[in-house]
Amino acid sequence: MPLYHKLGKFPQKRHTIFKKDDGSLHYEQLFGTIGFDGMSSLLYHLHRPTQVKEVGKTLDIAPRAAVEYNIKSRLLKGFEIKPEDDYLQSRKTVLFNSDVHVGLAAPRKSVTDYFYKNTDADELLFVHRGSGTLKTFLGEIPFEYGDYLMIPRGMIYQIEFDTEDNRLLLTESYHPIYTPKRYRNWFGQHLEHSPFCERDFKLPQNLQTFDEKGEFLMKVKKQGQLHHLVYATHPFDVVGWDGYNFPYGFSIHNFEPITGRVHQPPPVHQTFETSAFVVCSFCPRLYDYHPQAIPAPYNHSNIDSDEVLYYVDGDFMSRKGIDEGYISLHPAGIPHGPHPGTYEASIGKSKTEELAVMIDTFKPLKLTQQAMDIDDGKYYQSWLE
Ligand SMILES: [Fe+2]
Repeated sequence: MPLYHKLGKFPQKRHTIFKKDDGSLHYEQLFGTIGFDGMSSLLYHLHRPTQVKEVGKTLDIAPRAAVEYNIKSRLLKGFEIKPEDDYLQSRKTVLFNSDVHVGLAAPRKSVTDYFYKNTDADELLFVHRGSGTLKTFLGEIPFEYGDYLMIPRGMIYQIEFDTEDNRLLLTESYHPIYTPKRYRNWFGQHLEHSPFCERDFKLPQNLQTFDEKGEFLMKVKKQGQLHHLVYATHPFDVVGWDGYNFPYGFSIHNFEPITGRVHQPPPVHQTFETSAFVVCSFCPRLYDYHPQAIPAPYNHSNIDSDEVLYYVDGDFMSRKGIDEGYISLHPAGIPHGPHPGTYEASIGKSKTEELAVMIDTFKPLKLTQQAMDIDDGKYYQSWLE
């Protein structure tokens, strides 16, 4: 996050003496990315953050390809993913490549008996149903319907839900997730033409510090494996921190759409970027206002990009037979476009209520068996007249 934030207490000068009330020292930790070149935060712990007691079992949770080479347009019925109590077990990867894993989850229970961190990937959660609090060792972020939660790699967290009816879209990125560079100036500040700005971000708050010793289970995802480590002190023992590397939230409802006289291309909806894929937010907006404009998109060829569209709410003007929670996959190499009739029907319409999240990947995606289990199987023929 190109934004300085701080919570709690820390010494005025970094890397200097910072004593507790009993005269002993706090333990400083640099929590950084990209070697020492990326964004970082400086944390102050009550206890050494290195006290591993046991290294227990390891589970292989790497996705397996049911379809390695996909040329079919697909329609996945996302809400057919079954709810499960445990947050991590509920997460089902449906599409993946070496850059990004796209998954769905319907967790029923809050995480209370373990802590989790993903050391492989930044996690971008999109909250389709449910509300609660993301609890991290850098503070808490309350979330609700429509929120993106950006959790940088290595962030220790738990997730607390208010109810049992929760639906999440998960994006695990093996490359750092940033807001689009073209929206930011030299210093990282979001510019006037950006569809959102710093005021829209939900920053960590309410830093809770636990001074506890005992046995604390930490599930660590690394190289597609879920390692079970037992730590000797509570992982949320930070008394203060400052810096640029921290989780944040952003509501899709705060994305201000960019519109024009004629159809605007998908990049105007871009919300996040990485070196391997982009994330766009399609939000309720006024349609094109040229008197001869056709608001529905033209047919387009993703010649070098797979397009994943996750349908959240509203009408989906260019598609038929779409329901909330569905995912369409339009693979690189073949064109796609509006369904028969929708192109013509869009003429003269003044606005759309569609709400959707798009993930465009620069490498082809593979499908897991979980994806095949919810694939409608006939979507690829849905443009036939
Ligand atoms: Fe498209």
